[in-house]
Amino acid sequence: MNLSKSLYSGKDGWLHLQESIEKYSQSGIYIIVGENTLKYCLPVLLEKCPTLADAFIIKIPGGESNKTILSIERVWQKLTIGKALRSSLVICLGGGVITDIGGFAAATFKRGMDFIHIPTTVLAMVDAAIGGKTGINLDSVKNQVGVFAQPKSVFVFTEFLETLPERQMLSGYAEMLKHALTDSAEHFNDLLRLNSPLNACVETTILKSAAVKTKVVEIDPSEGGIRKVLNFGHTIGHAIEAFSQKNDADPLLHGEAVAIGLVCESYISAKMFGLGQNDLMKITAHVNLHFKHYPISPENIDDLLALMYHDKKNTDNNLLNFSLISSIGKPVWDQFPGEELIRSSLQYYLGV
Ligand SMILES: NC(=O)c1ccc[n+]([C@@H]2O[C@H](COP(=O)([O-])OP(=O)(O)OC[C@H]3O[C@@H](n4cnc5c(N)ncnc54)[C@H](O)[C@@H]3O)[C@@H](O)[C@H]2O)c1
Ligand SMILES: [Zn+2]
Repeated sequence: MNLSKSLYSGKDGWLHLQESIEKYSQSGIYIIVGENTLKYCLPVLLEKCPTLADAFIIKIPGGESNKTILSIERVWQKLTIGKALRSSLVICLGGGVITDIGGFAAATFKRGMDFIHIPTTVLAMVDAAIGGKTGINLDSVKNQVGVFAQPKSVFVFTEFLETLPERQMLSGYAEMLKHALTDSAEHFNDLLRLNSPLNACVETTILKSAAVKTKVVEIDPSEGGIRKVLNFGHTIGHAIEAFSQKNDADPLLHGEAVAIGLVCESYISAKMFGLGQNDLMKITAHVNLHFKHYPISPENIDDLLALMYHDKKNTDNNLLNFSLISSIGKPVWDQFPGEELIRSSLQYYLGV
């Protein structure tokens, strides 16, 4: 699999998109959007590619709560109404919610049609649109149903980020931080040198981050081994995200929770593998500087552990499974730090 060859950006990207569209013009093109990408991104896309004026627009409600089978049915129904063929093309224009839903709907409609992703959030550009995981949530279980299906191409056009709220940019930046920490000290230091996460949300830096995911997925597309490095920060991050969704009126975004997970899991990495104290301090200070502190109380640590056990993806023979770093750029996976160390890592984040 050569995923890097199917990732396009900038001027060349627009040209390649135009060529791709022409190939499908006879069989029909279907663009899936959410409310925000309908409003902010579709006009930009149509201006750049006027030939898409005839495309059939499928609007679905955005937001994580709509990543359900109902949205998939809605897309399948609209594709049917629009007389989509197996040889038609689906374009997913949006953040990770739209690329996950649109990819799954396209990969299953008439047993699978071609689709491309045009991600419009930082998180989708560096992460969700890459790697071929598609799917939906079932009841409260995230990404419970889905298929691996690779988009024909992924297009990174950073002009779409002009309308993306800053908080969403920062959320995507947390994944860039994760990619850098698993990639190399140089990559991590390059991010720090930019001074601000917003300075990192530009084409070169985003492409460098996307390349980290691409490289890992090319080696291990079905997550049998090394792809697990991408879960660094996520065992604790997912628990904090779920905790916040249960308890807060304005819950943390995924990346905001992952940033905390990166601090805690770096602490565990230091204790288990000797990640340098200096590096741990750098990571902690950087997250604390750019992400709002999330005040969990020490009494909530039991709830967080329960959430980690509840997340089936984490458990291996009832032990919590972590992806960590033995030093910056040296990831390790299938690690079992044990409850005591996990508790200490949360206490470390809380400063107690
Ligand atoms: N498939 C994968 O490998 C993978 C990897 C990581 C995350 N994900 C999934 O991605 C989802 C999160 O993605 P996300 O963070 O992009 O969230 P999202 O898709 O919900 O987008 C965030 C918000 O930004 C809005 N938006 C998107 N683009 C915009 C733009 N250019 N201007 C203004 N507003 C815009 C959206 O409408 C939404 O309100 C989760 O469901 C997660 O499970 C999937
Ligand atoms: Zn993530």
